[in-house]
Amino acid sequence: MSKVTVVGAGNVGATCANVLAHSDVFNEVVLIDIAGDLAKGKALDIWQQAPIDGYSTRMTGGSDYALTAGSDIVIITAGVPRKPGMSRDDLISTNAKIVVSVTKNILQHTKNPIIIVVSNPLDVMTYAAWKASGLSEKRVFGMAGVLDTARYRAFLAEEIGCSPKDIAAILMGGHGDTMVPLPRYTTVSGIPVTELVKKEKLDAIIERTKFGGGELVNLMGTSAWYAPGAAAAQMAISIQRDENRIFPCCIRLKGEYKIKDVFVGTPVKLNKKGIGEVIKLRLKKDELDLLHGSANAVKEIMDALDGMGVL
Ligand code: NAI
Ligand code: 2OP
Repeated sequence: MSKVTVVGAGNVGATCANVLAHSDVFNEVVLIDIAGDLAKGKALDIWQQAPIDGYSTRMTGGSDYALTAGSDIVIITAGVPRKPGMSRDDLISTNAKIVVSVTKNILQHTKNPIIIVVSNPLDVMTYAAWKASGLSEKRVFGMAGVLDTARYRAFLAEEIGCSPKDIAAILMGGHGDTMVPLPRYTTVSGIPVTELVKKEKLDAIIERTKFGGGELVNLMGTSAWYAPGAAAAQMAISIQRDENRIFPCCIRLKGEYKIKDVFVGTPVKLNKKGIGEVIKLRLKKDELDLLHGSANAVKEIMDALDGMGVL
């Protein structure tokens, strides 16, 4: 019996639950939200889609954490978006309180789940969940790199005129404009991307990727959900299948890349234990400098959160 819980039945959470249900990898997908019967309703809707699309995943939902008991994996998408008049610190403190309470509620019903954090600001919310959980850092990590690399791969596929399936790439660092692009590690069916895309074009694609979230907010008036929901689902599916796939995930570094106790995007192997291995790339000095700059930016917000008395 395998079970995955998605907390937050908003745009990202509901999309993620829908992708998980379609994958037929888990026996049960549970959707949880604080907002009345929202999660119950969306879960019922996805369950009624099963006969049409042909999957067996049992879809349930509600606001009672008893439903989540025995979850193998929990994906946290609960949070509020930044509203007018709200400072960045207000957002951090509000969402950290939500992520901490969700984590504690989950642990009341499941002892040792794998937790994938999606709520923003991502790197710091992953820190909040890890700290509140008391779990090993191998079992609490964040989704951002899968989404950021997907955006980069989609832009490259458009430029080259090839299938996005053929683009393999890795990015590191925090989620946002300090992310660290690594074109040296980007290939198109094994061909180094630099052989197919001119430097100026590649630089423009990297810049577009860094601000990929903002581009969508400008278009839609709210942040993205299809690719983010699918990205979190892909991580959970791969963990459940014990595939040892390599994804960039937001993890707590413990001295790797000379970064200690900071949560930043790093390539890792994912398997049923969570993080199976941290991949250590041989970064060049300029790449390492960018990574350290990104880690310092995350650390500043982690320190700010430490000072807020939320954790
Ligand atoms: P949304 O506003 O559509 O949904 C959030 C849901 O969380 C709402 O249904 C709300 O009722 C629920 N919620 C709030 N407090 C809760 C609590 N204490 N317990 C349970 N549920 C609670 O927002 P959306 O678009 O789904 O985004 C969710 C989060 O994901 C945001 O923080 C967003 O910034 C983040 N995000 C992160 C990405 C990443 O790459 N890591 C990408 C896209 C979004
Ligand atoms: C995104 O990158 C806002 O984190 C969100 O779409």
